Amino acid sequence: MKKIILVVSLLFISSISSADMQHNPNANFFKSHIEATKYRQDAFSMMSVNFHDMATMLKGKKKWDQAEFQTRANNVHNISTMIEDGFKGQKMPKGQTKAKPDIWTNWADFSSKLQHLRGSTLKLADVSKTGNKKAIKSEFKAVGQLCGACHKKYRNK
Ligand code: HEC
Repeated sequence: MKKIILVVSLLFISSISSADMQHNPNANFFKSHIEATKYRQDAFSMMSVNFHDMATMLKGKKKWDQAEFQTRANNVHNISTMIEDGFKGQKMPKGQTKAKPDIWTNWADFSSKLQHLRGSTLKLADVSKTGNKKAIKSEFKAVGQLCGACHKKYRNK
């Protein structure tokens, strides 16, 4: 009896993977492409709010707070590690997204840009611990350039 159940459940699992997974590697994570789009857009918004708060502190428009700056830097890095899921294997949902179709035709390049973002935000989080503003500013600028370069190539206005 146990054997039959095992065989049946294995058959069930393999039928899911051949139908949906081939079509979309993240089908088991998101209910739809629209959900995936919302997920990545929300992640970018959260990352952006944290990043801009860091900019206000660096520009002296807001009082410097070492602990808060570090928290923001950690948030930016943590969120950067979540973004790729929202793009992986997704097709273009019409009218819902600013993501250019080139992302999926140039996946290796896009994915490496996201990898750079993860590496660079990690460096920023690390250097933030030192409180050395000159070094922090230079890493902050490096991250900002990655945001801009990717938007220029892969995001519609
Ligand atoms: C590897 C490419 C890439 C990098 C790096 C990147 N972005 Fe984006 N970003 C995109 C794409 C593509 C979209 C459009 C997403 C969509 O509409 O589906 C986007 C959208 C956004 C949005 C709009 C979100 C919304 O609500 O629609 C904000 C804000 C944003 N990015 C901020 C940032 C910031 C800040 C950084 C750097 C810390 C950054 N991005 C780095 C590719 C990137």
